[in-house]
Amino acid sequence: MSQNLAAPATPAPLAEFLARQERIGLLRFLTCGSVDDGKSTLIGRLLYDTKLIFEDQLATLQHDSRKHGTTGDDIDFALLVDGLQAEREQGITIDVAYRFFTTERRRFIVADTPGHEQYTRNMATGASNAELAVVLVDARHGVLTQTRRHSFITSLLGIRHIVLAVNKIDLVDFDQGRFNAILDDYRAAVAGLGFRSLVAIPLSARFGDNVIERSTRTPWYTGPTLLEHLETVDVDADAAVRPFRMPVQWVNRPNLDFRGYSGTIASGTVRRGDRVSVAHDGRASTVTRIVTMDGELERAGAGSAVTLVLADQIDISRGDVLATPGAPSSIGDQFDANLVWLTDQPLFPGRSYIIKLGTRSLSGTITRIRHRTDVNTFEQVAAETLGVNDVALVSIALTAPMALERFAESRELGGFIVIDRLTNATVGVGMIETIAQSATNIVWHQMAVDKEARAAQKRQRPAVLWFTGLSGAGKSTIADLVDRKLHALGHHTYILDGDNVRHGLNRDLGFSEADRVENIRRAAEAARLMVDAGLIVMVSFISPYRSDRDAARERFEAGEFIEVFIDTPIDECRRRDPKGLYARADAGKIRNFTGVDAPYEAPAAPELRLRTAEAAAETLAERVIEDLRRRAIII
Ligand code: ADX
Repeated sequence: MSQNLAAPATPAPLAEFLARQERIGLLRFLTCGSVDDGKSTLIGRLLYDTKLIFEDQLATLQHDSRKHGTTGDDIDFALLVDGLQAEREQGITIDVAYRFFTTERRRFIVADTPGHEQYTRNMATGASNAELAVVLVDARHGVLTQTRRHSFITSLLGIRHIVLAVNKIDLVDFDQGRFNAILDDYRAAVAGLGFRSLVAIPLSARFGDNVIERSTRTPWYTGPTLLEHLETVDVDADAAVRPFRMPVQWVNRPNLDFRGYSGTIASGTVRRGDRVSVAHDGRASTVTRIVTMDGELERAGAGSAVTLVLADQIDISRGDVLATPGAPSSIGDQFDANLVWLTDQPLFPGRSYIIKLGTRSLSGTITRIRHRTDVNTFEQVAAETLGVNDVALVSIALTAPMALERFAESRELGGFIVIDRLTNATVGVGMIETIAQSATNIVWHQMAVDKEARAAQKRQRPAVLWFTGLSGAGKSTIADLVDRKLHALGHHTYILDGDNVRHGLNRDLGFSEADRVENIRRAAEAARLMVDAGLIVMVSFISPYRSDRDAARERFEAGEFIEVFIDTPIDECRRRDPKGLYARADAGKIRNFTGVDAPYEAPAAPELRLRTAEAAAETLAERVIEDLRRRAIII
């Protein structure tokens, strides 16, 4: 910023205030518990007693309390919090309210997640960067199933510091024995969840005991008040001593003379003169400048948004991770992760989703659900699919390797969200648990005779023609005609037909959505091997789900996958009914029949669309041959 601009001097008290704000740390925490536990009352009490409520809000509150409150002439703090609901952060579709308050010693951000049944989802999304959780229990009820559930999810989110707020202690006559019993119960319940600190505080949110002021009514309690603890607890994870990592968010190139890499430092520190390397291939260079909004720095640490300028021109793009040389992130494409599923649409192993890790997005599939965890009992149970609010340990395979970290090491490089390809909705949040060794060790074995050599011998380019459409649309008929023509032209082909493959390779699969996902995945893998053998493969499967066809497409190189939509209106398929299956489905004798009681998602942009109601199969097959010539698959 230019020093020549005449900026009015900042008034002393404000300057002091700002300087102090700079110095004091920030604590992000979340509160777990239901309305009945007094969660809103507690947050309201904190905001009120730290004087962070504006006068006019206070006046409304007193007024409202008298009108609607349940506390007589006292202020009903729950009303305050509920009244702030409108201030919810924009752009978050979940029910999480963030509240900010400051004391002399610290700034705070509280994520307030409502305690209804969508709780898991709200917690997982809204509180994923919190450092501490205040778990509320009602002193009369003690540790409940939901207390265990909240604590489990808290631990999953990487939160390592817990305050057990034993609320409504006034309602059990400030009984020390009761308090100790609850603490013992809780310790036993969360043993093994990996919490680093656990402080239990007897308090009354309604009357303020041990919230901010030490209560005279619990003389037996010698620990800190809630606010004292929040102000002083040391949650500073050792982010600064860990190796340097910065995912590049964008390459900053305002003109030819400047090229910088912008991002937020995920862990460690960087100094001018440090060597840094690109995690995925080890190229290294020296940091010549660290540019920030407030000018240039000598060093910058975790959490800072910086632009790094390097001495050498090396090819770095968005999504690359800059790291300390010699201590790079693991590079891998397979890992196990804890996953919280957020939507009613079930998760199916094998289906392709977008996995967004930090600033990077890649396609991937959940290859396997290792086990689901019952969040109430912590029991591990087998599962084929996941439903809303389910928590599971899953295996994930990405379509390309990228820099990965365990979530315990780095929230930025180890935490991810799962996005539905079609709706673009966030359907899951995950935390990397282990990075598979095999991912880097099993490489595709390069044969001496490769795909090009095999294809060249056959005087063709290998490809897959993926025929999709309703049962009876004419997929097999047209694929068969195309196959005959190609064969007559001297080409090397094969047909993978749904009905036939279901007699062998896919004998174990039925027609549920999950089975169809797997059916298509195997068909795609089989076709891929055949393409590698240099063949032109025709796949003729209904393949009703768009995301599964897209996942199949991703297994091939550009130009190899040709989606052929056999577009026949359902009424026409039904009229033809070559196998009598529509009649049986209509009579309720076959379930999950595509077009009857199971969906068909037509391709949005197929390479070829063949309308069988408008032209003869022979004509359409010839059109496919022409298309293959145009694409230089055949000559
Ligand atoms: S897909 O949906 O998983 O791609 P696929 O092409 O393998 O289906 O198999 C479809 C064939 O299985 C149909 O042509 C039909 O002969 C037979 N079939 C039996 N039950 C069903 C069903 N419920 N839905 C669709 N096809 C069925």
